Formats: sequence, structure tokens, C-alpha cells
Amino acid sequence: MNLLFIGDIVGNPGRKAAKEMIKRLKKEKEIDFCFANGENSAGGSGITYVVAQELYKSGIQGITLGNHTWSKREVTNFIDSDKCIVRPANYPTELPGFGSTVIKGEKGEVGLLNIMGRVYMDSIDCPFKAAEREIEHLKNFVKIIVIDMHAEATSEKHALAWHLDGKVSCVLGTHTHVQTADERILPFGTGYITDVGMTGPYDGIIGVERERVINKFITHMPTRFEVAHGKVQFNGAYLEIDEKTGKTLKIERIFEVLEV
Ligand SMILES: [Fe+2]
Ligand SMILES: [Fe+2]
Repeated sequence: MNLLFIGDIVGNPGRKAAKEMIKRLKKEKEIDFCFANGENSAGGSGITYVVAQELYKSGIQGITLGNHTWSKREVTNFIDSDKCIVRPANYPTELPGFGSTVIKGEKGEVGLLNIMGRVYMDSIDCPFKAAEREIEHLKNFVKIIVIDMHAEATSEKHALAWHLDGKVSCVLGTHTHVQTADERILPFGTGYITDVGMTGPYDGIIGVERERVINKFITHMPTRFEVAHGKVQFNGAYLEIDEKTGKTLKIERIFEVLEV
């Protein structure tokens, strides 16, 4: 089973780049499942129903979220009825949505799980315990489990991956919007990368218009962030996973800069 996972899609530029690259990569590689982090897909923060449908139309079969899950309030209207979208499993259980799901494709079924870190982020429930709980549940249905670990701290992502080595197919980091060069397969077959990166404006500051971010750092005044313009980057990870064992056989980073 071959999987393409796309790093945080930022706004309209990110959605366009994802659409174009999915089309191109499907010609070059056999892709059975395509998932993406969509926490910034609507205007740079949050997700809407219309934007989610656009992502599905582009070929994305499963969407993960993160600390921007609730930024567009309308998400609460559809997150309970959309079984292809997951929000961090370690949010309070009474919140809308699901932390994990099973995505069906032509090559069978894959478990998709979203976990969020706590270091330099909101102090929500334990990511390790939440992951263990969700994996126990998913194991009843699927052999392949893909985790999006949405976190700031490298160490926390690294620790979760080592903790779950051999128990899940891969732990893919998101949130920092900067791709790391540490993709590897851990000893018991869990594919890992600290951060898949971002699919969005290349010349912004992690996707946002530069002047506004610089001004905020200098003045500390409240600033409305806007999605940057110009060139767009596509960041993703491509994995080959053994369907029988659920182990990762190959993991590759993808980083392309496009003139969209
Ligand atoms: Fe993000
Ligand atoms: Fe985030």
C-alpha cells in the first residue's frame, strides 16, 4: 500500500498546490491513499465544509487537524457527520468530532489517527495515553495505522514514535510548517518524520504575509494574519507500507516549489 501524506495545507495557494501535485504524483507513483493535514486550509486557519469538499475532490481521502481545528466555528456543524476527518484524539472527549477513523480505499482500509502534543501548546490530555487508547480500538478493524502527531516540540514527536514503534505503521509530525530531514524507519517498522512540513506560500513566514509577522514580533501589537502570495511549496511524505504486517518499507520526503 502506498501512502501520500501532505503537510499542513495553507489557504487557497496550498489547496491549489496540493491539487496539482496529487495529479502529478499519481502519474509518477502508485498512490493508494492520500491524507493531508487541513488545519490551515480555509484562509490560513481552520477548515470549512466547502474547503473540505474541495480537498476531497482533489483526491485527499482523509483529513487531519490540530490546534486550529475550531478556528472556523462552522466546523462543529459538520465534523460529527464527516467520517473522513479527524481532530486531535486528546481533546476533551465531549467535544465534537472523532480522534480516529477508518478510511476505505481500493486497496483496503487504513486507520487514521490525529494526536496533538502538549509541549509549548495547550495543555490537553496525555498524547501517549490517548494514542494507546485509540490504537487498541483501531486494531480491531485495521492492520495499517497512520498517525499525524501535531506538535511543536521535536522531542515529543520523537518520543511518541519510539513509544509506538511496531504498534503503528507510521508517526508523521505536523504543525511547525517546516519540513525536517530525519525521515527513517524505526527498528520495529514504524515510519517516522518529525515534520512533514507545509503546503502553502513559499515566501511567507510559515505561510503568513511576512510584514505582518515581523511587525508583530517588533511591536507586540495584535495583528491580523493573512495568507502570503507568490510561489507555493508542496511538502509531503510518501510511504510504502506492507499490507500484511502493517510495517513501513520505505519513507521519502517530497519538497517542491511551484509557480502557481
Ligand atoms: Fe498548521
Ligand atoms: Fe498547528
